[in-house]
Amino acid sequence: MRAAVYRRFGGPDTVRVDQVPRPTVGTDDVLIRVHASTVSAADHRARSREVPRGLGLLAAMGIGLFRPKRPVLGFDVAGVVEAVGANVTAFGQGDEVIAMTGAYFGGHAEYARVPGGAAIAHKPRNMSFENAVTLVFGGLTARCFLQQAHPAPGAAVLVNGASGAVGTAAVQLAAYAGAHVTGVCSGGNRELVTSLGADRVIDYTTEDFTAGPASYDVIVDCVGNDPFERVRHLLKPGGALLLVITDLPGLLLAPLRSRRTGHLVTADVGRPTAEDLAFLVDLAEAGSFQAVRDRTYDLADVAEAHRYVDTGRKRGNVVLRLTDEEPAPKSTAQQTGEASS
Ligand SMILES: NC(=O)c1ccc[n+]([C@@H]2O[C@H](COP(=O)([O-])OP(=O)(O)OC[C@H]3O[C@@H](n4cnc5c(N)ncnc54)[C@H](OP(=O)(O)O)[C@@H]3O)[C@@H](O)[C@H]2O)c1
Repeated sequence: MRAAVYRRFGGPDTVRVDQVPRPTVGTDDVLIRVHASTVSAADHRARSREVPRGLGLLAAMGIGLFRPKRPVLGFDVAGVVEAVGANVTAFGQGDEVIAMTGAYFGGHAEYARVPGGAAIAHKPRNMSFENAVTLVFGGLTARCFLQQAHPAPGAAVLVNGASGAVGTAAVQLAAYAGAHVTGVCSGGNRELVTSLGADRVIDYTTEDFTAGPASYDVIVDCVGNDPFERVRHLLKPGGALLLVITDLPGLLLAPLRSRRTGHLVTADVGRPTAEDLAFLVDLAEAGSFQAVRDRTYDLADVAEAHRYVDTGRKRGNVVLRLTDEEPAPKSTAQQTGEASS
């Protein structure tokens, strides 16, 4: 089968399209004929080994020390079930699904193995594969972090990095929970973030939100520039700081800070489940969660997709097409926001 393969760490051009063996299916696995995946921040980090301060060794355990452990990237897939293992009963051949391959990667290929226990759900009926796949990476991350803080109706939630894959999902989920949402992004993304449900937008290029008088029940940091020391004064008593991205000290000190301050400080996403993904699918089918899709690339242009993701400026998700059934514009930025195909 065709796949985007990288055999050494480095820049976007380390990723090439090559022939690799089709994955085999274990008794608990689902094999998917992939229609779409995304090129995500996780792919960028695994390929480039650019990880926050102090996390190099920990990351190497997952992605490889001298060369990539898993030469096919791709954290998520949308496609059609090709085969299932003997123990799989919830899905069968021909089902349209979305799934998180997660740390196993493998989504940037014509066929991907979704291991037993991974988050997998039927695709929203009102979304194309290319829109549906955008629910997985950012949606599951935002869902699993926010669930730990349980924002109540009326709670004040700030999402830093509100225009990325995780941020756009966090804004939508917090708004769905009835929270008053403040999104932090650059001015060009104000309209997008507002359209997703933010009540207020702070342009980080002209205003430092940590200098403002507002306080929050929940702060979601999707950028990595909000360590506890910087935002502690903005947290209401019992408030939560959700560190979607942080460095080693932030990771190690989070439990201690929680114990000492009465705030919830966590850098742990937990384990995204099939139920979490089904929750997002239900929201999407009800029109309460939108696909946020930036550029779409064909597999042959995978290095270009990586180059764009490396800018750190993508809006929501960059989609990789593994089939050519949807005539999508190749490199034009498009924020679909729509729930229908
Ligand atoms: N802990 C986990 O399990 C987990 C899971 C998923 C992702 N992550 C990490 O979480 C982070 C976010 O992931 P993502 O997929 O959302 O990333 P992303 O989509 O690549 O984020 C890109 C967005 O970040 C915005 N941005 C850049 N600098 C900013 C700043 N200083 N302030 C506010 N916004 C800024 C950009 O907007 P502008 O163009 O407007 O600047 C852009 O829209 C990544 O570091 C990723 O590695 C962690």
